[in-house]
Amino acid sequence: MKKYKIAVIKGDGIGPEIVDEAIKVLDAVSVNTDCEFVYKEYLMGGIAYDITGDPLPEETVEGCKNADAVLFGAIGGEKWDNLPRDKRPESGLLRLRKALALYANFRPVKVYDELLDASTLKSEVIEGVDLLVMRELTGGIYFGQPREKGNESAFNTMVYTKDEIIRIAKMAFEAAQKRRQKVCSVDKANVLEVSQLWRETVEEVATGYPDVTLSHMYVDNAAMQLVRDPKQFDVILTGNIFGDILSDEASMISGSIGLLPSASVGGVVGLYEPIHGSAPDIAGQGIANPIATIASASMMLRFALAEEKAADKIDKAIDQLLKEGYRTKDISSYGANEVCSTTEVGSIIADYVSK
Ligand code: IPM
Ligand code: MG
Repeated sequence: MKKYKIAVIKGDGIGPEIVDEAIKVLDAVSVNTDCEFVYKEYLMGGIAYDITGDPLPEETVEGCKNADAVLFGAIGGEKWDNLPRDKRPESGLLRLRKALALYANFRPVKVYDELLDASTLKSEVIEGVDLLVMRELTGGIYFGQPREKGNESAFNTMVYTKDEIIRIAKMAFEAAQKRRQKVCSVDKANVLEVSQLWRETVEEVATGYPDVTLSHMYVDNAAMQLVRDPKQFDVILTGNIFGDILSDEASMISGSIGLLPSASVGGVVGLYEPIHGSAPDIAGQGIANPIATIASASMMLRFALAEEKAADKIDKAIDQLLKEGYRTKDISSYGANEVCSTTEVGSIIADYVSK
C-alpha cells in the first residue's frame, strides 16, 4: 500500500465545498487501488489573512514543501478587495507558486460530448476540441521588478530571462510529443521586446524537437482564433499574463469554467487546482460544480503520483456522470436528467470509482 501525503488548501468562497468533494473521490479511489492518502490542511488566501494576518503563512509553505502534492480549491472575495496588494488573497497564491517554483501551468481544455450545447459557441466549432494551454507561471509582468503604484502614475515591468523561456518551452514541446505534436507559441513580438526574445528562444528550443511542428501567433490573433476555430490548436505555449487571459477564454469552449482542472509543476511539489475562482456569490449554497476540482485531483494522481489507473478511473467516472445526465446548476440546461448539489455530484463520482 502506497501512502501519499497531500497538503490540502481549501481557501475561500466555494473552495472548501469543492475540495471536500475531491477528497471524497480520492478516498473512494483508494479503496480499489493500492494507494492511500493522508491529508493535512493549510491556510491560504482571505481566510489565512483573517486568522493570521498573512495570506500565506510560513507554515503553509513548509507544509506544501513536505507533501507529495498540493490540492487547492480557490481564494479571494470582495471582503478582501481593499487590502494592500501584499495582503490580498491573490498574493498568497502568487507567493506560493513562486515559493514552490511552479513555473509550468498545464490548463487542458477538452469538450465533453454531452455538453456540446453548454458552450456559447456552435457545436460544430467545438466538437472534438482537445487543447492544452501551457502557461508560464512564475515570471513575466506578474512578478517583474520594478513595480509601483503612485497616485498619478503606476507601472509594472514585463521581464523574461532566456532561461525562464527555455524551461517552459521544453515543457511545452515535451507535452506536444505526447499529444498531436504541435506547439503554437503566443506572444506580442510585433510590439514587445520581451516577446521578441520569447520568439527567438522558442525557435532555438524547437530545434531539439524535430518531431514537433512550431507555429507563432500574436496574442490578439490567438484570442480571435480560439473562438473562430479552436480545433486548430494542440499545445498553446505562452507567458504568464497572456496565459491567464487565454485560458479563461478557452474554458468557455467547454461550456463552463466549472469543468476545467489545472496542474502547476516544475518545482519539487506540484499544485493542483481548478482554473476557476472562489465564486463568493454562490458560496455556501451547495450548488458549485466540483468537477474541475475532482479532475484536478485526477491530474494530481497522474502527474505527481504516477497513479495512472486511479486517474483513469476518476476521468471515466466524470464522463459517466455527465453521460447519465447528472448536472450541477451551472450546466443544468444541457441534457440534465437530474440537477444535483455539489455533494451529490461528489458522491455519485465517488460511487462510480469505488466499483
Ligand atoms: C488564475 C487566477 C490567478 C492568476 C489569480 C487568482 C491571482 O486568475 O490562476 O488564473 O491571475 O494567476
Ligand atoms: Mg486567471
